[in-house]
Amino acid sequence: MSTRKPSNRFWNRIANFYARQPIADPASYKRKLEITARFLRPDVRLLEFGCGTGGTALHHAAYVKEIHAIDFASRMIEIAKQNQQAAGVANVSFMVGDLHDFAPGQMRYDGVLAMSLLHLVGDRDAALARVRDQLHPGGLFVSSTKCIGDDGRLSG
Ligand SMILES: C[S@@+](CC[C@H](N)C(=O)[O-])C[C@H]1O[C@@H](n2cnc3c(N)ncnc32)[C@H](O)[C@@H]1O
Repeated sequence: MSTRKPSNRFWNRIANFYARQPIADPASYKRKLEITARFLRPDVRLLEFGCGTGGTALHHAAYVKEIHAIDFASRMIEIAKQNQQAAGVANVSFMVGDLHDFAPGQMRYDGVLAMSLLHLVGDRDAALARVRDQLHPGGLFVSSTKCIGDDGRLSG
């Protein structure tokens, strides 16, 4: 596995394009949202790593107390904030940040989300350690990631 630190340059460059793309597989995306929502409660605080343009955080916001959503591409976060304003959602904070540099703060979260992210990180063990550092003992980690199917194609 590569330990080279991936750059945010690619994601900043494609952020506008990414934001315009329709969800590739709406049925799977809806199912992921529904599965995640089963674990959400009004008192839950979530952290999302690699939030992109914010769609998942903005969807779940109605069912939790608050969400801190981070992405290392500043353009993704700019678009996420625009989407937040358009949606009128108050309990999500979007911030620029790299999962690998995310130090444990005072606060621990009830749940961490990393959707379509783990296949992108250079050092997955380090990434999972960062996730663990952010969680209350017994906290929830929700991840979906690309897999290589029998036909050699990537699927979400
Ligand atoms: C495939 S997109 C997925 C976006 C969103 N989670 C979704 O499901 O639509 C991956 C996102 O992860 C971000 N990302 C990649 N590596 C990251 C890292 N180390 N720290 C924070 N964000 C990262 C990218 O900037 C990009 O927005």
